[in-house]
Amino acid sequence: MNHSIIIMAAGKGSRMKSEIPKVLHTVCGKPMLYHILHEARKLSDDIHTIIYHQAERVKAAVESDFTGIDLIVQDHENYPGTGGAVMAAKPKHDKVLVLNGDMPLVTESVLTPFFECDADVVLSTFVLKDPSGYGRVITAGNQVEKVVEDKDATAEEKKVTRVNAGVYLFDRSFLNEFLPKLSCDNAQGEYYITELIELAIKAGKKVAFVDVDEEAFMGVNSKKELSIAETVMQRRIRDFWMQEGVIMHLPETIYIDTRVRFEGECEIESGCVIKGNTVIRNSTVYAHSVIEDAVIEDSTVGPMARIRPQTVLNDTHIGNFVEIKKSTLNGVKAGHLSYLGDATIDRGTNIGAGTITCNYDGINKYQTVIGKNVFIGSDSQLVAPVTLEDNTMVAAGTTVTDNVPTQALAISRTAQRNVAGFFHRFFHKKGQ
Ligand code: UD1
Ligand code: CA
Repeated sequence: MNHSIIIMAAGKGSRMKSEIPKVLHTVCGKPMLYHILHEARKLSDDIHTIIYHQAERVKAAVESDFTGIDLIVQDHENYPGTGGAVMAAKPKHDKVLVLNGDMPLVTESVLTPFFECDADVVLSTFVLKDPSGYGRVITAGNQVEKVVEDKDATAEEKKVTRVNAGVYLFDRSFLNEFLPKLSCDNAQGEYYITELIELAIKAGKKVAFVDVDEEAFMGVNSKKELSIAETVMQRRIRDFWMQEGVIMHLPETIYIDTRVRFEGECEIESGCVIKGNTVIRNSTVYAHSVIEDAVIEDSTVGPMARIRPQTVLNDTHIGNFVEIKKSTLNGVKAGHLSYLGDATIDRGTNIGAGTITCNYDGINKYQTVIGKNVFIGSDSQLVAPVTLEDNTMVAAGTTVTDNVPTQALAISRTAQRNVAGFFHRFFHKKGQ
């Protein structure tokens, strides 16, 4: 860990066409910057993140997940650009790894080869069929001369397919000597970190190159690239969990956030979306269910169920078209077409089709408490706050507005009467 890391995250990200700072756009449920910091943490105890555009917002996002990151505001008015970003940091170690904040797919293992190079400057490159947008690595014969930015490149230079991947390893002493020599004489009027390559070569410094994986080092500059990065990360997440023993059917149709955890024997059918801090333990989730920030243990969910935040399911069966929010269900069956919100429901209870907890009066939310062995008939409404004690029943079609004491049946519906001959009188159709 005897190297420092600088993560450049101050840019506006104009190509994202968004009010949200680029590095806060999420990939698999977490900001791009989170992913890179997560990997940087494994490599260094001295991490500097350069911020400027919506600095407070970026700072708050970083501090919500990490401690001990040095957040520095770039002097963007006077020193704009990636060169200006690096000028802002005061790294404590002799070797300094510089990363772009818009590279959510880099991992510890693809960054370690940089530390094996013995040079003043290590640059990373890859070859692309379509190099547009990237800085081109210009060579003369076999010798690298410089990196030219897309916006500064001549028509001839634009044809070069070897590009700068945007990760660098510098000797701190080299940075101290050469950062003050950067100019902003270019199309964007910015200080480019890439000019350091040309300066190093001209000064006879040792410059090394690492050929890197195009996918892992992709830069995200647009919403299209954001979706590509997310697709790659989804594949990684699913592969990881399948390796850990989770069964997935048509895995490429399943979406799983970064923080989701599976434990024990789990099976996920196609089309499921599992988000947030969800934990799924020894459970099956049937097709096209959506789960967010929930704990699901020894249970079955779906198909087509929606489990919303702060739900805890234990030994429970949730069937199709059931929505559950902020509720704890322990040993319960809710097989069809229900909304259960702000509820606690205990062991042995059966929730009939079409049961609704009316938890909201337009101003406040209220709790529904349902005890053990309660049988709720279909199409019932439970108007909260309300308690149904252990061993109670609710007749189908009942609107429960008062607490139900143990052993009682709650029923609220008008008695049926049959009006003879009504059909004929109404439609004037005999014998039909
Ligand atoms: C940069 C490289 C380019 C390379 C590409 C790889 C430069 C000048 N160009 O181009 O050669 O091929 O990455 O992905 O470095 N940032 C700051 N402060 C600033 C400007 C940018 O911190 O003043 C940050 C951004 O937030 C971003 C990173 O630096 O995370 C890169 O900036 P971006 O504008 O995306 O550079 P590219 O044009 O992609
Ligand atoms: Ca970029």
